[in-house]
Amino acid sequence: MPSIDQLVDAARAVRLNAHAPYSGFLVGAAIETPGGRIITGCNVENATYGLTVCAERVAIVKAISEGEREFVRIAIVADTDAPTPPCGACRQILWEFGGDLEIVMASLVEVKAMYRLAQLLPMPFDRRLLGSKQFV
Ligand code: THU
Repeated sequence: MPSIDQLVDAARAVRLNAHAPYSGFLVGAAIETPGGRIITGCNVENATYGLTVCAERVAIVKAISEGEREFVRIAIVADTDAPTPPCGACRQILWEFGGDLEIVMASLVEVKAMYRLAQLLPMPFDRRLLGSKQFV
């Protein structure tokens, strides 16, 4: 199983691939499966601004497309003193597949904060609320 440091290092490495010419804010994310696999993602901005995709969503969408469905931990790295938490949209997408996963926020040099997703998204909308109204 990867250590927290290994997960954070993977997020630091992929951060360098970020396409962030508009904000200059490079973010890397690395998500871990129960089997110890690490899938990474960086933020990908767009000239329309609004079509920007965050690093966390890139990582989880890549992982889903590779057949992964469960996650235990995600590391998020930015070059800031303050921790970089996932945005609201990313929290919702992470909840869909990750549930109450562990979130590690780190800078280029150290871990800044650790939370569970339920702390950041205390009243999530999810499939349980759809009741029988879902096509499985
Ligand atoms: N961003 C992420 O990729 N993840 C976060 O957790 C926060 C924000 C990106 C989106 C945009 O490209 C840039 O950072 C500035 O908001």
